[in-house]
Amino acid sequence: MSSRFALVLMAAVFAVSCAQPNESYAPGLGEIMTLQQMRHTKLWLAAEAGNWPLAAYELDELNEGFEDAVHFHPTHKDSPVPIAEVVEKIMTQPLKDARAAVEAKDAAAFAQAFDAVTDGCNRCHTATNFGFNVVTRPAANPYPNQVFALPADSAGTK
Ligand code: HEC
Repeated sequence: MSSRFALVLMAAVFAVSCAQPNESYAPGLGEIMTLQQMRHTKLWLAAEAGNWPLAAYELDELNEGFEDAVHFHPTHKDSPVPIAEVVEKIMTQPLKDARAAVEAKDAAAFAQAFDAVTDGCNRCHTATNFGFNVVTRPAANPYPNQVFALPADSAGTK
């Protein structure tokens, strides 16, 4: 193969690969919500076990999940209100209060803030026409393969 031909071939291959549609993966809102459900559960279990670093972590994840919801689904076909708007309006304060309780390692304040977060989840489900979808304090621990108590020698202890 002449070097000139090789160059032309390389250019052609490059052009074809560039022409491929850039289909980056976008999670559905239902998928994001399923993760939110898990984080909501783990947040409660972590705080119940007094593992405040884990609770802080799950709260971060919950916040990131809502950022994803707003980013990927600013609107939703079945919702009369824009997702971006209603998340901001309903969730900002409860999540802030939960953060303050976790930082203060205050179990009583946390329980109250957690119920307000849960209430926010349900209010948003109602606002978006998914009021049949009700979340609550977890009644049991569905994670047999995770330790919720803080390990005595945990390097991540704050
Ligand atoms: C925008 C307001 C809004 C907020 C805030 C919100 N949700 Fe949702 N949630 C939705 C919508 C809309 C759906 C339906 C999405 C779909 O299936 O397309 C949904 C679906 C769900 C589902 C059903 C998923 C499934 O496949 O079974 C669960 C569980 C859920 N949400 C949990 C939560 C939890 C927990 C919170 C709070 C930490 C929360 N949601 C906060 C709007 C919201």
